[in-house]
Amino acid sequence: MSFNTFGQLFRFTSFGESHGPAIGCVVDGCPPRIPLTAEDIQRELDRRRPGQSRFTTQRQEPDAVKILSGVFTDEATGRQVTTGTPIALMIENVDQRSKDYSEIKDKYRPGHAGYTYDIKYGLHDYRGGGRASARETAARVAAGAVARKVVPGLVVRAALVQMGPHKIDRSRWDWNEVDRNPFFCPDAEQATFFESYLDGVRKAGSSVGAVIEVVADGVPPGLGAPVYGKLDADIAAALMGINAVKGVEIGDGFTTAAMSGEDNADEMRMGNDGKPVFLSNHAGGILGGISTGQLIVARFAVKPTSSILTSRRTVDSRGNDTEVMTKGRHDPCVGIRAVPIGEAMLACVLADHYLRHRGQVGEPAPWPKPAV
Ligand SMILES: Cc1cc2nc3c(=O)[nH]c(=O)nc-3n(C[C@H](O)[C@H](O)[C@H](O)COP(=O)(O)O)c2cc1C
Repeated sequence: MSFNTFGQLFRFTSFGESHGPAIGCVVDGCPPRIPLTAEDIQRELDRRRPGQSRFTTQRQEPDAVKILSGVFTDEATGRQVTTGTPIALMIENVDQRSKDYSEIKDKYRPGHAGYTYDIKYGLHDYRGGGRASARETAARVAAGAVARKVVPGLVVRAALVQMGPHKIDRSRWDWNEVDRNPFFCPDAEQATFFESYLDGVRKAGSSVGAVIEVVADGVPPGLGAPVYGKLDADIAAALMGINAVKGVEIGDGFTTAAMSGEDNADEMRMGNDGKPVFLSNHAGGILGGISTGQLIVARFAVKPTSSILTSRRTVDSRGNDTEVMTKGRHDPCVGIRAVPIGEAMLACVLADHYLRHRGQVGEPAPWPKPAV
C-alpha cells in the first residue's frame, strides 16, 4: 500500500526525504509534443526555494532540477518536447545539517508528525521531519510546472492574503506586487507592514500562520464530474494535502453560510459573444463539481510553523514527560513558501481533470442548444 501518487490521468509520484540525497517525482500521463525545458521547471522551483530572504528558512538549497527522462528534441522545431513517456525529475539535497536535530531525536515536537509516524510505522526520520518535511513540496512544484503546460491558456496564480491576524486590503490588490515583495503579497502597503511584523515574530523565535488565495484563469467550462470526481472536492483534497494546511475554502467558502440565497446567487445574462456571463462568482467557478468557465478561486489556511524557540511540554518515545525546544533553521511563517506550492497543486488538479474531460467527452457539447 502506498499513497505517494497524485492524480488519475495526469499523475505524479514523489519520492525522497528532507535529509536524503535527493527528492523528486515521476510525472506520468503528460501528453506528448508539449515544449518543456528544465528552465520552465526551475523558474517555478526558484519561487519556492528556501533561503531567499530573512523571512524564510536559511537552509541554502539551490533546488536545481534535472530532467532524467521523458523529453526529446522535436526535429521539426528544434525544441525540447515531452514524449508521452514518464518524465522523471530529480532535485539533489545539498544543505542537510542532521546535527541540528539530535536534541529532538526521541522527543516529539508538538504540531509535527513524529508521534503519528512512530505510532503507525514504529520509526520516524527526525532529521527535518523526513518524509513529513516540506522538502517534498519541491517535487510538487516541479510536477506543477509540467501541469501548467497541459491546459492551453491556463494561468494559475496565488497570493498571501493574511499573515497571523492581519489581512490585506483587497481594494489595493495588484498581481504585479506579488513578485516584488518577499511575501507574495498583492497589497504593497500591507507587505511593508509584514516586514516589521514578521521580524518581531522571527526575533522572538515564534511563528505565525497565513491564508493563501489561489486563482486559475482560462479554465474551460466542463472540467470535473459528479459525484466522486467533483472538481471542488479534488481541489480541496490537493490543497489540504500540503504540509501544515488546516483549512480550504472554494469561492466564498465559509462566508456563504451567513449569506442569503439572493446574495449568494451568481446571476446570469447573455453576453454579446453569445456566451453566458455570470454577474458574480460566489461559487468560485465551480457548480455541481464542474467548472463554469469563470475564475476558479480557492483559499487555504496554513498553521504556524511548529518549530519554535520556546520550550513546549511533550513526551519522549520511551513514555516520559519532557520539554522540547526546536533549534535549527525554520520558516517563521511557512505560509509564504506555500504560495507557489498551492499554485502547483491547483495546476495539477486542473491538468488531470482536463485530460479526464477530454478522454470522456472529447469535443465540447454545442451550446446554446439548437431549437427543437
Ligand atoms: C513551505 C513549508 C515549510 C515548512 N517548514 C517547516 C519547518 O521549518 N518546521 C516545521 O516544524 N514545520 C514546517 N512545515 C510544516 C510541516 O511540514 C508540517 O506541519 C508537518 O509535516 C506536520 O504535518 P501537518 O501540519 O500537515 O499535520 C513547513 C510547511 C511548508 C508548507
